[in-house]
Amino acid sequence: MQQTVFLNGRFLPIEEAYVPVLDRGFIFGDGVYEVIPVYSRHAFQLREHLIRLTQSLEGLRLENPYTVDQWQTLVLELIEKNSPDDQSIYLQVTRGPAPRDHAFPKHAVPTVFIMSNPLLTPPESQVKHGVSAISANDIRWDRCDIKAIALLPNVLLRQMAVDVGAVETILFRDGILTEGAASNIFAVDQGVLLAPPKDRHMLPGITYDLILELAEQLGIPVNIGYFEETRIRAADELWITSSTKEILAIVSLDQQPIGDGQPGPVFHQMYQAYQDYKNRVMRHG
Ligand code: PDD
Repeated sequence: MQQTVFLNGRFLPIEEAYVPVLDRGFIFGDGVYEVIPVYSRHAFQLREHLIRLTQSLEGLRLENPYTVDQWQTLVLELIEKNSPDDQSIYLQVTRGPAPRDHAFPKHAVPTVFIMSNPLLTPPESQVKHGVSAISANDIRWDRCDIKAIALLPNVLLRQMAVDVGAVETILFRDGILTEGAASNIFAVDQGVLLAPPKDRHMLPGITYDLILELAEQLGIPVNIGYFEETRIRAADELWITSSTKEILAIVSLDQQPIGDGQPGPVFHQMYQAYQDYKNRVMRHG
């Protein structure tokens, strides 16, 4: 089935979509992106994703090429033009092509690219048995709240996990939990859900917000704060969350078991709530 993408005002087959080599996304990683899950052709929390996109663009001092309504129309059109009912929308805005110079070009036109891929949620075995993770120092800059396409530290950190057969790398900055290389992290300690605050050291996840909302509905107490590595390693449960991973239990960290080495009871409760919400709300727009 043909994959249709959107590039600079046109819908076209992915094979025909090209950007110039002087695009600042290619030369400097000068751009931002979003990943939006689509369930039964309904884009989940589209407005929230587009608000976060606007904030990322502001972080780059890049003018938003479209209004939220215009973005919405483009994304919905792209969903219609692609075949799977469950999709993952990737959208990217760069500062556009210009002669290479670090300083902003005066007249560059931003490059806007949107593509759709089939949404691949984690395999059943990962949900049932949990996954392993490793830890590393958070070597990134201090504007991790911007969803920048310049992801070299995240790429290297995530590969460290893949190299040892783990699913994610959990990051600690000065001994304090921040997030995962491509996900947010929650812990459960004596029935209380622990989460880092949405500051400049983590990406404000759309799934993170949903987890906190579901925790409130489920009556799970939440503690948002700065948590030391020792406390995280000793937690009863650890979770990773993201638009594509949804929610997964981490059952071992650096080859040491978390809790009893199985997905815990609060995870089961939250996973069920997430799936119910998906089928009750997300699939119906
Ligand atoms: N990444 N933190 C980082 C560093 C991430 O890259 C992501 C998601 C998240 C979770 O955000 P959300 O819940 O909005 O997906 C947190 C996406 C999926 C990616 O880069 O592919």
